[in-house]
Amino acid sequence: MELRPLSGKASSSRLVLGIETSCDDTGAAVLDETGAILGESLNSQKEVHLRTGGIIPTVAQQLHRENIERVVQEALERSSVAPGQLSAVATTVKPGLALSLGIGLEFSLRFVRQHNKPFIPIHHMEAHALTVRMLQPVAFPFLVLLVSGGHSLLAVARGVDDFLLLGHTLDEAPGDTLDKVARRLSLIKHPQCSTLSGGQAIELLAKDGDRTRFPFTTPMGQTYDCCFSFAGLRNQVTMTIMKQEAEEGVKQGTLLTCVNDIAAATQHTVASHLAKRTHRAILFCKAKGLLPSSSPTLVVSGGVASNQYIRKALMIITEMTGLHLLCPPAKFCTDNGVMIAWNGLERLREGKGILPPNVDVCYEPKAPLGVDISAEVKAAAIRLPSVRMKIPN
Ligand code: KG4
Ligand code: ZN
Repeated sequence: MELRPLSGKASSSRLVLGIETSCDDTGAAVLDETGAILGESLNSQKEVHLRTGGIIPTVAQQLHRENIERVVQEALERSSVAPGQLSAVATTVKPGLALSLGIGLEFSLRFVRQHNKPFIPIHHMEAHALTVRMLQPVAFPFLVLLVSGGHSLLAVARGVDDFLLLGHTLDEAPGDTLDKVARRLSLIKHPQCSTLSGGQAIELLAKDGDRTRFPFTTPMGQTYDCCFSFAGLRNQVTMTIMKQEAEEGVKQGTLLTCVNDIAAATQHTVASHLAKRTHRAILFCKAKGLLPSSSPTLVVSGGVASNQYIRKALMIITEMTGLHLLCPPAKFCTDNGVMIAWNGLERLREGKGILPPNVDVCYEPKAPLGVDISAEVKAAAIRLPSVRMKIPN
């Protein structure tokens, strides 16, 4: 299931520099057409945002501003590629935090003008969806579940720039929920979790927790579509935490003795919700003939996809429905410049969305992926057979 990227020396193939600044990672990478990563650099802001209790957009912007030049320089130096050798520059321009997107875009437009290179604007979710093809030849169409701190969606990838959106989150993204639950539990004070993202901390603590102690309700059980909702679950978890604080006679900000059980129950409910919506998406695709009958594939990516428990939950569904499950390794599930460069190469190969250096491009904080058919999915109202989610820890 784990996939590895190719590595190798620069060939005569075309080279693309990818730049990512849509959220809290400043990333850059140079790739050749085979998907070989010639050089990369990544500056994560995670520790700063952990200390401030969440991403403050102006802080993220300032950190991108301070690091972008060095990160791009490092990626170029490590690849031994001079700007003149590049075939194009690809940069995330949507969706994401406006202030963060602005830094990457401004830098990139200056860079392409200075070196007279074509510019390829990239949709961040398209890049997450296509990363898998850098690691192995996955043919279109395939089903993709993207779950991160900012997004939650199910789509059929039919081509490099051709997506059918089956479902999306109605409120917050699962990574955001896990980050907020971790903050409410003050997991930063936990000796094993002080440097971990909320999702990582919950996964770690859940390993020693009893998921049955707090039976949270899986969201949207009566809505037969492929959309997601996590705000209600967060509310259930918060209420439980308040009750436990009262029982233990401690104030908010104190580590509860039951953190492992709360982490396990939260993770299990998130996993079940993702598995159920994905199960319905698979049944919808089968009913509508949207996936190939031979070796249909589910690709799962985005930061939350690095969670092994969630992968196991999805595996139960794919085994049951006869799909092949592919998850890029954690390093390629989270944000990086590599996936942006790869998306640039895929577009370059097909001649799609390649702009001249003097072009004026605006970033877009909100940008849906592909054609939204979630209403059609809802109208199909597909009922799920009952599945025993006995997920091994
Ligand atoms: O894709 P990503 O790097 O950035 C966004 O585009 O959001 O995802 C970051 C998110 C964070 O919310 C983080 O808590 C979550 O991914 N995450 C995880 C795990 N590792 C990171 N969630 C669950 N389990 C993990 N192991
Ligand atoms: Zn992302």
